Amino acid sequence: MRRPIGVFDSGFGGLTVARALLDLMPGEDFVYIGDTGRYPYGSKPLDEVREYAVELATSLVDDFDAKAIVVACNTATAAGLEEIRRSLAVPIIDVVDPGASALVRATRSGQVGVIGTVGTISSGAYLRAVDEAAARHGVHAELASAACPGFVEFVERGQTTGDEVMVLAERLLAPMRDANIDTLLLGCTHYPFLARTIGEVMGPDVVLVSSADETAFAARQQLEELGLLEVSRARGSRRFLSSGDVENFRELGAMLFGAELQSAEPWAAR
Ligand code: DGL
Repeated sequence: MRRPIGVFDSGFGGLTVARALLDLMPGEDFVYIGDTGRYPYGSKPLDEVREYAVELATSLVDDFDAKAIVVACNTATAAGLEEIRRSLAVPIIDVVDPGASALVRATRSGQVGVIGTVGTISSGAYLRAVDEAAARHGVHAELASAACPGFVEFVERGQTTGDEVMVLAERLLAPMRDANIDTLLLGCTHYPFLARTIGEVMGPDVVLVSSADETAFAARQQLEELGLLEVSRARGSRRFLSSGDVENFRELGAMLFGAELQSAEPWAAR
């Protein structure tokens, strides 16, 4: 019996991770839930985000029979990863550890930065994850971090370029420019949609890293180790659900993700 991989985020951001997952494992079935009805997570208390994260992951397992969950949201990972792992018996793949690994492997100088939501940055999740990743890879890394409130809202409106985004990016990224870093991790899954603007502000000497590819590789490895990887060469099914305006999710989702996001269905918390 085929079982899908469940993926969730507060909204459209997790689609950057879903893209990498689908490209790497086209034969798998996927169910994606964007909690657009309750986004943004980044400015909410971590307790509240934890509750939502557990609810979404549980729904993916109970209602869709997901064989594994990818928490495609840094804030939900920072707030609820341990609780989700405690309450569900399927493998749970997060984005923070893979992102931290990608960051420490990419840096040459060891001076690195991470940007994310207020919730993610204030949780300290990346301080721990980068320390652990640096120790694992035997490198030295010094981390500067900054919260970027407002970025997610632009993406959720479908506004990924333009003067307004640029003005905000220049203001929010000023501490990162002063920190003399050579590598910057986009520690929010929405931010790759703003990569052009972020890259322009940071300049050509700073490499931008996202957790999407690394997370997809981590997911494939775990599924393979557990004997859960789909070996069929036929293309798998894709379902997209939203707790908010479904038509808006389909329209904006197709713009951000591509034609594969042809339809969207409603999702409601039980
Ligand atoms: N995409 C999410 C993340 O990676 C959070 C966005 C939000 O604030 O809802 O942190």
